[in-house]
Amino acid sequence: MENFTMHNPTSLHFGRNVTDDLGKTIAQYGKKILLVYGKGSIKKNGIYDQVMEQLKQIGVEVFEYSGIKPNPITEDVDAAAEIGKKHNVDVVLAVGGGSVIDSAKIIALTIPCEHSAWRIMINLAKPEKAIPLVSVLTLAATGTEMNPFAVLQNVQTHKKIGYGNPLIYPKHSFLDPAFTFSVSREYTAYGIVDLIAHALENYFGKGDASLSDRFVFAIVREAMDYGPALLDDLQDYDLRARIMYAATSALNGLTAYGRVSGDWGVHDLGHILSLLFDSPHGATLSVVYPAWLKLMKDRTPERISELGKAVFNVNGADRTILALEGFFKSLGSPVRMEGLGIPQNKKKEIIDMMVQNKVNGAHHKIEKEDIETVVGLMFAKAQTE
Ligand code: NZQ
Ligand code: ZN
Repeated sequence: MENFTMHNPTSLHFGRNVTDDLGKTIAQYGKKILLVYGKGSIKKNGIYDQVMEQLKQIGVEVFEYSGIKPNPITEDVDAAAEIGKKHNVDVVLAVGGGSVIDSAKIIALTIPCEHSAWRIMINLAKPEKAIPLVSVLTLAATGTEMNPFAVLQNVQTHKKIGYGNPLIYPKHSFLDPAFTFSVSREYTAYGIVDLIAHALENYFGKGDASLSDRFVFAIVREAMDYGPALLDDLQDYDLRARIMYAATSALNGLTAYGRVSGDWGVHDLGHILSLLFDSPHGATLSVVYPAWLKLMKDRTPERISELGKAVFNVNGADRTILALEGFFKSLGSPVRMEGLGIPQNKKKEIIDMMVQNKVNGAHHKIEKEDIETVVGLMFAKAQTE
């Protein structure tokens, strides 16, 4: 097992009506708030009104930036940071899913410095401070509510990349499972895929950490036991809560401690599909993961089999891959390019973009020939048992 430091500075407030304390929590950071949200779901489901009521009670000045898109872009981050600078805001409040919170993280870093969001993302600028960030999560998937990562897209340079910096842990994150009642069946399924993928990226990373492996198995089992039931009843509070907690736990450090690193090759490949076709993040992962495992099955057969035994009760790498693919399919998440609406004639463009972006895993290396193989597998005819 590798050495590690366990420190997660985010206070996570989880459960029914936790946002009743949002106002008093925000009040300790100042009087001027930059509220960041997406394309309007929070106005339809009433969350916006609840948040505004909290802010009204503490008498703060609120500046808004809305319209953050799924697969968020740096232009929005820079534009929001301008508003923050102009009004000298004290705190950023993100209300939304991963795209909104990730954007808010980089907004919080960009406001107190003279650099653009992208210069920060590609490490050309090294900000020394961030203004405090508070989040209200409305979609269970990414784990961003309790981690130091953000993923943004640069449409000019054709890149979608992740960035990590301890300064961007949210100070507080509020998770009321009832706030996810209005998430569509589709996005609920993509969130379940995403949380499983995060646990697996860590599992297939480098280093031997048996307890972290067991956390991975437990999280995947939780998703398998309660995910399908949730898709049958999107308004079930208890099921929403179980999936929400699993999603946070998959990427808040728990599955990573004691390893050198996670792998993240599957995410790297998936980001290219989002970049080119604006595909939802979780949907790209249910297509990429089975293909990546097929590529890796002769390179790390024992590891894949161990996963299969622990979570699907099957023997061997082939059966494990089939079981994972079958589970994704049962959720209604695509497992081939066709399901993402990506036609065969895009194959070359995809491969070229993956090569250009040097997609790779931190542990299991991917060569150019591997990219061709893995993309071929994503276009292959779906297997049936
Ligand atoms: O635009 P709004 O109105 O917010 O609507 C969103 C969006 O259309 C909607 N939605 C969110 N909460 C809702 C809701 N609709 C109804 N009711 C609610 N309560 O759902 C759609 C998708 O939202 P988005 O935020 O894009 O989804 P998600 O949370 O899956 O975030 C995806 C982004 O996170 C990045 C991904 O790459 C992608 O850009 N990731 C971030 C990570 C991190 N920071 O640690 C790790 C992940 O691997 C991932 O890469
Ligand atoms: Zn992800």
